[in-house]
Amino acid sequence: MDQHIAESVGRPDLIRLDDRLVCLRFETMKVVSALAAVRHLLDTGAVRRGDTLLDSSSGIYAYALALACHRYGMRCHIVGSSTVDHTLRTQLAVLGATLEQMEPCDDLKLDQKRRVERIHEILAEHPEYHWMRQYHDDVHYLGYRAVAERIRRSAGAAPLTVVGGVGSGASTGALARYLRQDSPDVELVGVQPYGSVTFGAGHVSDPEIIIAGIGSSIPFANVDHALYDTLHWISFDAALAGSVDLLRRHAVFAGLSTGAGYLAARWERGRAPGRTVVFIAADTGHRYVDTVYARHREAGRIEDLVPQAVSGQSELALPWSRMQWDRSPGPGPAA
Ligand SMILES: Cc1ncc(COP(=O)(O)O)c(C=O)c1O
Repeated sequence: MDQHIAESVGRPDLIRLDDRLVCLRFETMKVVSALAAVRHLLDTGAVRRGDTLLDSSSGIYAYALALACHRYGMRCHIVGSSTVDHTLRTQLAVLGATLEQMEPCDDLKLDQKRRVERIHEILAEHPEYHWMRQYHDDVHYLGYRAVAERIRRSAGAAPLTVVGGVGSGASTGALARYLRQDSPDVELVGVQPYGSVTFGAGHVSDPEIIIAGIGSSIPFANVDHALYDTLHWISFDAALAGSVDLLRRHAVFAGLSTGAGYLAARWERGRAPGRTVVFIAADTGHRYVDTVYARHREAGRIEDLVPQAVSGQSELALPWSRMQWDRSPGPGPAA
């Protein structure tokens, strides 16, 4: 029996969608990560019950941290971007988390920079607050150990390929790291939006809206580049087609980063007949009803989409590019 809703809501489902294609489906992904991070901080004496935990978030981490704070009797303060919607704002308020929402800003880099500046101002006023630093502190890896064990128990003996969008890098990085500990033959495939500097694609932009939660305009220390074998860059339109197909074909209602991951996962499964491919569904489709699902008639057939194989970031092209990363240690030059 769970002792708190955060444990139930955080636990993912493993769904076999097709031969060698498995969906790791979260209701809301970062709850397992935030719970384990807060527990670790309490256990090691870095924070005490009643302390205030602070971070910046564009959405699902805010909810995850608020639930973890509720579970462990902590206070929670969030500097949120304009993507924090009415539903989340209302829940945060009732949960007792305080939210400062930034003015809307089209420039992602500026938006991220302003949020970090605001965090520093708050810390100057309240040096007793603990800044969680979800993008930089690898305490956020810990919660995925149990998820990796569950994948290993359920997926059988076949070699695994893990596919997921890379934001902070904690979910994909942690799953690969923990899965490789007992069985090294695990491939990791990262999914990125165009325009993200994380793997050196800051110079190519997507004319449509950005995929929430993945990619970045600033470097993150939690991304361990040397864990990734392959990278896919996927446009909004292609991710939309993936999300709509995933709902139509497999009845999984998930967000845009999942649609992008699903495309990449199907591709990787086709290339490697001996491997089972597990892709991450980080959130549900509710936040994407107007921007994605209402446009389902525009969605292209995913069978018609093929990634362009590129050997360097200077060759990247919309709508979908794939590159061998070969566990290279840094983002490399965005030539
Ligand atoms: C919808 C969505 N997908 C994927 C991710 C990426 O997860 P991670 O930060 O573990 O790399 C995020 C992170 O915010 C997200 O919000």
